[in-house]
Amino acid sequence: MWQRKSMPLKTTLFITSLHAFGSLALEDGMGLPVIGGLTSKLRGRAVQTEAVCITGFSWMNNGLGQSPCLSAAFALGACMNDGFDLPALIDAQHHYSAPNSTDGTATECSCSWAGYNLLQACAYCQGGPLYNASIFSWMAWQQNCSSSLLTDPNPFPLNIVIPNDTAIASWATTNPNTWPNQKFDPTTAQTIAQENLPDLTQHSRDSSNPKSKSHLGAIVGAVAGVIALLIAVAILVWRPIYRKRLPEELAVLV
Ligand SMILES: *[C@@H]1O[C@H](CO)[C@@H](O)[C@H](O)[C@H]1NC(C)=O
Ligand SMILES: *[C@@H]1O[C@H](CO)[C@@H](O)[C@H](O)[C@H]1NC(C)=O
Ligand SMILES: *[C@@H]1O[C@H](CO)[C@@H](O)[C@H](O)[C@H]1NC(C)=O
Ligand SMILES: *[C@@H]1O[C@H](CO)[C@@H](O)[C@H](O)[C@H]1NC(C)=O
Repeated sequence: MWQRKSMPLKTTLFITSLHAFGSLALEDGMGLPVIGGLTSKLRGRAVQTEAVCITGFSWMNNGLGQSPCLSAAFALGACMNDGFDLPALIDAQHHYSAPNSTDGTATECSCSWAGYNLLQACAYCQGGPLYNASIFSWMAWQQNCSSSLLTDPNPFPLNIVIPNDTAIASWATTNPNTWPNQKFDPTTAQTIAQENLPDLTQHSRDSSNPKSKSHLGAIVGAVAGVIALLIAVAILVWRPIYRKRLPEELAVLV
């Protein structure tokens, strides 16, 4: 009995949800789930992908030279505790399944602009125009994303740290509602990529968030003010008592 209990629940949940994601991640065009392709083993918090872009899609890479597939694995994995593995699509009739609130794959990460864009780019880059049908529309994608999971106007949830070892390419921060027909559009994305705007990283996000800094300043100021006031009050209250008591205490001592 206790042996069962001692089995770490987290690991069990992790395997279940990863397996569910893996099998659902590979759906054929008819909506039939296909199990398979999820062969690699994850260790620790590893983030990995078996999906590979064909040549001609290096413009999708982030500044660290990571493919949209590895970037997508990092983006989606940021909401998973134990790691994430993004399988390759089997063929052009498959796509990555949309977030599903029933099996736990609907997260702030999978529902985010960056999560959606990177995953659709990853699907497309595995075959180019042949894989056209693998791109989900944003409307269909976010069906299971409750309003608390949607991150607009932020491309990636502010409360989820963008891992150190990745970066979100600028085109992937695009609001999916602005893609033609609200569907990730490789041509438009490439145009944005050619502007060579900086990647979105945790560091760039922290340093361009003066709001939190001024909040911190206000809090520090308020705390310092309260402490100064308490000291002033203590001195005012203490002084007369001290003065009155002093002679008595001296008398006792003498
Ligand atoms: C969502 O997940 C549940 C539970 O795994 C499954 O039964 C259902 O078919 C999934 N829905 C879609 C649209 O894939
Ligand atoms: C991709 O599919 C859309 C329709 O879904 C079509 O309008 C477009 O021309 C296709 N693009 C390519 C390159 O095949
Ligand atoms: C989840 O998405 C499926 C289709 O993918 C839809 O049938 C279902 O109603 C959605 N559930 C919620 C809670 O939005
Ligand atoms: C993130 O990067 C900083 C330096 O840029 C490093 O000091 C820190 O250890 C890194 N954190 C992780 C979790 O890798």
